[in-house]
Amino acid sequence: MSAFSFRVDREDLHKTSFDSGYVGAIEAPLKKGEALLSVDAFALTANNITYGVAGDQIGYWQFFPQALPWGQIPVWGFGTVVASDVETLHVGQRFYGYFPMASHLRVEPGKVSPHGFVCQAEHRRALPQAYNQYSLATPELGFPPEEDRMRMLLNPLFTTAFLLAAQLKDAEYFSAESVLLTSASSKTAMSLAYLLNRFHNVKVVGLTSKPNLDFVQSLGVYQSVIAYEALEQLSVEPAALIDIAGNSAVRARLHRRFADQLRHSSLVGITHYEAEPGERVPLPGAEPTPFFAPSQAEKMIKEGGQDRFRAELAEQWAGFICHAVAWCDLKVVSDGAGLERVYRDVASNPSPRNGYLFERASG
Ligand SMILES: NC(=O)c1ccc[n+]([C@@H]2O[C@H](COP(=O)([O-])OP(=O)(O)OC[C@H]3O[C@@H](n4cnc5c(N)ncnc54)[C@H](OP(=O)(O)O)[C@@H]3O)[C@@H](O)[C@H]2O)c1
Repeated sequence: MSAFSFRVDREDLHKTSFDSGYVGAIEAPLKKGEALLSVDAFALTANNITYGVAGDQIGYWQFFPQALPWGQIPVWGFGTVVASDVETLHVGQRFYGYFPMASHLRVEPGKVSPHGFVCQAEHRRALPQAYNQYSLATPELGFPPEEDRMRMLLNPLFTTAFLLAAQLKDAEYFSAESVLLTSASSKTAMSLAYLLNRFHNVKVVGLTSKPNLDFVQSLGVYQSVIAYEALEQLSVEPAALIDIAGNSAVRARLHRRFADQLRHSSLVGITHYEAEPGERVPLPGAEPTPFFAPSQAEKMIKEGGQDRFRAELAEQWAGFICHAVAWCDLKVVSDGAGLERVYRDVASNPSPRNGYLFERASG
């Protein structure tokens, strides 16, 4: 498999195809200021499916444009420069960042710093900077190769959890005694539960689907875990809701159960993307507010500086990887058929233990 581009139908994420015209596109000569990266590896989780679900609303289809009805879902991974018409970017350099599910990516690096570059391609300029940034992935800059797999799979989700934990702390937990997390089995939720449990003095309650109850309990980061069906048994106390499932029926039941004791309600994810949309009626308790990780990161960096942000994140991440290796079951594929299979698995709710990775076979 030397060149490929995997696409999904924007209107029906279960329909997929490989773009047969892609080889010509990557063989076209580079323009001045462009470089070509081979995509070496990437991870797939429900987060990527959400990029597809919210593709129009948040602009995720614009990163790697495709002719309709197709769209290319972004993934986090590593790529290596294979051709460059940028003086300061060299063949063989490896970068971590946002890639298409494809064999190659053309970038327009603009200014290259010792840490990497921001892609300046016209169609990406208006999109959040966090997604246009490519970090030079050397061990000296914090990318030891033995961490590659965990980084692709968990670091974007852990970073979101780090930002959520900081937001909660800044707001003094909105005077809540417990933090309720839906889709408690998701990697984003368990990262947040880990951080709250380890560094914050607040009770963490996980809500999950019945088949995932045992797994979530076994993680040891939630003080209590309950199935969605049983949420009316939760004791009512001042609480903050971090909604990762995005299931409006579950959210409405939680708001009704906690009513004015629900001090904060944050809309973080949409893992239950196929759940029926609920009625749009005002809910008791705090007004649900969207959370967008890049915006919170920009705020924190502005307030505390880039160096402090990087150092705190790196320190907490190091502890989390040790926790994650104990429960994570990596599933690695390296060809088109495998990628298609893995995508279908991720889109249809596999075991939360699984960590899906694509790694291009060398040679
Ligand atoms: N707002 C932001 O800035 C931001 C940043 C990062 C991530 N997120 C969001 O956080 C969410 C979690 O992402 P992740 O990568 O951590 O997820 P993940 O680990 O892949 O989550 C897997 C879990 O999600 C639920 N799930 C997945 N697919 C499902 C389906 N088809 N039907 C029903 N439930 C399903 C199940 O949890 P349960 O059985 O426990 O419900 C499943 O165990 C995503 O929606 C992502 O976009 C948001």
